[in-house]
Amino acid sequence: MIYEWSNLAQRKPLRRLIQNGTARPIMTEARDGRLCEMEKWISICDAIAGEQSPSDASHDISHCRRVWRLSLAIMARDAIEADLLVLMAAAYFHDIRNYPKNSSLRELTSTHSADRAVELLSCHGFPPEKTAKLHHAIAAHSFSAGIPPTSNEARIVQDADRIEALGAIGLARAFAVGSTLGANLFDPDDPLAESRSLNDRRFTLDHFQTKLFHLPDKMNTRAGREIAERRVLVLRDFVSNLMNELHLADVDSAA
Ligand SMILES: [Fe+2]
Repeated sequence: MIYEWSNLAQRKPLRRLIQNGTARPIMTEARDGRLCEMEKWISICDAIAGEQSPSDASHDISHCRRVWRLSLAIMARDAIEADLLVLMAAAYFHDIRNYPKNSSLRELTSTHSADRAVELLSCHGFPPEKTAKLHHAIAAHSFSAGIPPTSNEARIVQDADRIEALGAIGLARAFAVGSTLGANLFDPDDPLAESRSLNDRRFTLDHFQTKLFHLPDKMNTRAGREIAERRVLVLRDFVSNLMNELHLADVDSAA
């Protein structure tokens, strides 16, 4: 099978990161050779994850590519020492298994993703000495697994994946997931749950209060927290605009 570089947008930041020395921990020697090796592995991971990722709109290959780019950005911004190959593979494969939120297997999703990633990549010659690190970075990324991240790669990928739940992208993904689960957009009688208990299985907007608004406080890295704090404002603005529209406040002010 021939793997081709499929996303040039990711090549420039990777080259910059490696060539300016930010990635020095694993790139001290033979920098060009290592770069080619990384590019080969990115192509392999992109191709395999592209074939095997879930087809739903919020966990498809484009989500994996964004998690990888965010991971790179966090690593560079905070100058964190991390193994780029492990980081990249974890970003691409972290959702290779994705059971629905209402599935009894949900808490095993990330562990099963980790098992599958190791299985798939081992067939392509992934360095055996790195598989334990890769497995942990994937297994620890999700809330429901309850596995504390103990490596820099795991902490970075977890932050990158959580950032994807915020901002304009997170907004789109939240409603896509809610729709898949059969949830309503919001409770028309009490959108902010002021007189009822929150129920994000029933109303997607409730998920903002049960989980999304709290994500910035749960970040592992400084860069991750800063990005999350900016992106959570997009969600808060959305809620504010939604309430204005429901009260026809924008209609009154336009008159
Ligand atoms: Fe994800």
